[in-house]
Amino acid sequence: ITMTRFYHEKVIDHYQNPRNVGSLNKNDADVGTGLVGAPACGDVMRLQIKVDEATGIIQDVKFKTFGCGSAIASSSYVTELVKGKSLDDALKIKNTIIAKELSLPPVKLHCSMLAEDAIKSAVKDYKSKRKGIKPTLGAEA
Ligand code: FES
Ligand code: FES
Repeated sequence: ITMTRFYHEKVIDHYQNPRNVGSLNKNDADVGTGLVGAPACGDVMRLQIKVDEATGIIQDVKFKTFGCGSAIASSSYVTELVKGKSLDDALKIKNTIIAKELSLPPVKLHCSMLAEDAIKSAVKDYKSKRKGIKPTLGAEA
């Protein structure tokens, strides 16, 4: 189909069968929500992580993207990447890794940037929520 003229097959796979679409309850203390927009095109991506509070490991992740095929594929791929990772490792994910995996052309690089921004913003939200919570007795000190 004509899409194949513009998109690499991995993009099409993630676009047609996106992984981890959906939402988590943003009010839960163990959920971090990232909501970011791309100034270049106005597309919006929401990415949420559910973190195991004892280990700091990302247990679950969901996304919703209102945007182009590359943005949807980038967010789908990034959810696969972060699941099971620590928060610190999730922060190390660069858009270049996503762009390379999906073979994004230069004009679509900002779509993968959106996914990097979204995971960073979700981790930040989770961490700022945690600051308001006292550590469990014995967990620290
Ligand atoms: Fe067309 Fe992003 S600019 S979907
Ligand atoms: Fe703007 Fe893909 S996110 S074109």
